[in-house]
This record gives sequence, structure tokens and C-alpha cells, in this order.
Amino acid sequence: MLRRARPLLPRRALASSNSPRIKAPIGWGGLALVGAAGGGLAVYYNVEKEKRQTAAAKKQTTYGVPSLGGPWTLVDSADGSVVTDASFRGDYVLMYFGFSKCPDICPAELVKMGEVLARLDAKAGSPRVKPLFVSLDPRRDSLRQLRHYAADYDARVRFLVGTPAQCRAAAKAYRVYSSVADEDANADDDYLLDHSIVLYLVGPDGAFLDFFTQST
Ligand code: NI
Repeated sequence: MLRRARPLLPRRALASSNSPRIKAPIGWGGLALVGAAGGGLAVYYNVEKEKRQTAAAKKQTTYGVPSLGGPWTLVDSADGSVVTDASFRGDYVLMYFGFSKCPDICPAELVKMGEVLARLDAKAGSPRVKPLFVSLDPRRDSLRQLRHYAADYDARVRFLVGTPAQCRAAAKAYRVYSSVADEDANADDDYLLDHSIVLYLVGPDGAFLDFFTQST
């Protein structure tokens, strides 16, 4: 199970907009009020998310400390085999985290991934890059679902998933954020995830090299 969204952003929205006395975490009732009061909250939320992602990513490059990445273990949906970060030593890896029910952003990023691969193909002497899609939604992204989903994209992209703990660990290693977007829909299987939209480039030695945001 993915964790439910915490009331972090609405709290900040409140604190920054008017009332400095609201310091304590607000409950779900408070969230409902915020939602009713501000139609701009969703926009604010997305802008803030983008800012956070960019800031977090910039921090990495500014300090020059490759602290992103780390060991992970997942299952390749193509054949059910267990793969780890170590399975890709010797190759460059382009890694993306998302979920197959994502309506537009993940598909767009996967198409972008395919275009990157095509450009590398066209350029003589390009390094070999292994593209990986890591599911943030193990609850719905079964191996079968991912195999079905994979048919729409470059055949080289490998779609990985694991237990919820394995998916969380992989996402955590790359500081990928994800949370259920629609609180009310969480009870059934119809929900969306908010998540980081970043492509990570990992070197042949397994070390994080660079990242690319949605606008790259
Ligand atoms: Ni997505």
C-alpha cells in the first residue's frame, strides 16, 4: 500500500497565506475547508511540487555529492526474473519512476525515453543505455499489467515492479516522491498518484550521474 498524502502542503499554504497562529498540523476536516476555500490549491500544489523537485535535484548537483541512487531489488515484468541495481553494471541506465494508470505524464515521459534511445541509435559511438521504468504502484501494476502496458513503448524499456516495500526502497534511493492524489478514491482501485517526474541517468559503475526533469 502506498502511503496516503500527508497534509504537508495545505498546512504550508495556510501558514504562508494569512494566519501565522496555525502551526499545528490540521486534520482532514481542515483539509476539506482548504479545498472548499481555494480552487487554486491544485495549481499551487503542482507549482510547489515542481519547485521542490527542482530544488532537491539542484541541491544534488550543487554539492556534487552523488548521494542519489543505491541498491534496489525488483522484478522484470517481461519474464518475472529478479533484477537489482547490480544487474546493470557495465551499462548506462536511464531510470524513470511512474505508474501504468498515469493518464498522460508517464506516457509522455516514456515516449521521450524512446526518442532518446532513437537519437542515441542514430549517433555513432553512443554509449549503450538501458531504459528502466520502475512502478510506484505495485498494488495495480502486476507483471501482467506492465507487460500489457509495455507494448505501447520502445521494446527496450524494461518495466520493473516489486513488493510495496521493494518499490518504496527503490523510489527512496532516488528520492522519488509519490502519494495518492485523490484521498476519497483511495478506498477502491481507482486512484491517481502524484509523483516526481524525473529521468535519472546512472553510470556503468552504478553511480548516479545526472537527472532530467519534465521540461528537459
Ligand atoms: Ni505519471
